[in-house]
Amino acid sequence: MITAFYQFAPRLGERDANLEMIRKGTVNRSFDLLVLPELCTTGYALTPEELDRFSEPVPDGPTVSFMLRYSQEKKSTIVWGMAEREGDRFYNSAVLVHQGFFLGKYRKVHLFLDEKDLFTPGDLPFTVWDVNGVRTGIMICFDWAYPEAARTLASRGAQLIAHPANLVLPLCQKAMPVRALENRIFTVTANRTGEERGLRFTGQSLICAPGGKILKQARKRPSFGSAEIDPVEASDKRMTARNSLFEDRRPSFYL
Ligand code: ACM
Repeated sequence: MITAFYQFAPRLGERDANLEMIRKGTVNRSFDLLVLPELCTTGYALTPEELDRFSEPVPDGPTVSFMLRYSQEKKSTIVWGMAEREGDRFYNSAVLVHQGFFLGKYRKVHLFLDEKDLFTPGDLPFTVWDVNGVRTGIMICFDWAYPEAARTLASRGAQLIAHPANLVLPLCQKAMPVRALENRIFTVTANRTGEERGLRFTGQSLICAPGGKILKQARKRPSFGSAEIDPVEASDKRMTARNSLFEDRRPSFYL
């Protein structure tokens, strides 16, 4: 299975240009799973008025329609971040499509900084989808700082976590190999680059393996990166012959 990220600098409020950039940057590449950054069709530093204007229903909006067509054309799975509108609420969401089918969405649980003024905190459970036999979970950007998010997905059977991000701190890139290691899962973090309204994004998207090894990391911007993986490797939770990270847990000692 080929997992991939596409890292780029979305243009604020220019959905069609952003979708075109995604297409141009990936259409000649091979992948089974493509992960794109958080809020990658609208940009990140939105005003409330812009959020109202640019957000879309999921799955009944033009961005999902584009991705359905594109995932069918590429015979692949795509996970990306976008601003979702439901009634008078807005969510920082990520969407999962597979070969022309909408499989589901996740709404960011741990909102970062001024996102708290814009979005309603996620109200959907951490979910694991069976995508062509690969058990796939989603978390979004700052969820990385809560090890419980990745642990919950891994406990629910995730072999791989797709992780759209818009990182402004240079910390998550250090943490993701550890999330992969402590849960013995694959992770694909797609970050963005560029600057918006005083926020500078830190790039360095990365794909990590269950042993904590970084299989691929972006060094330039924009950047497509891929790595071939065997998801079954994530089913073995042993760190040594006598230590299973899951079977040996001692929940009575934990908070
Ligand atoms: C972030 O959660 N976008 C840092």
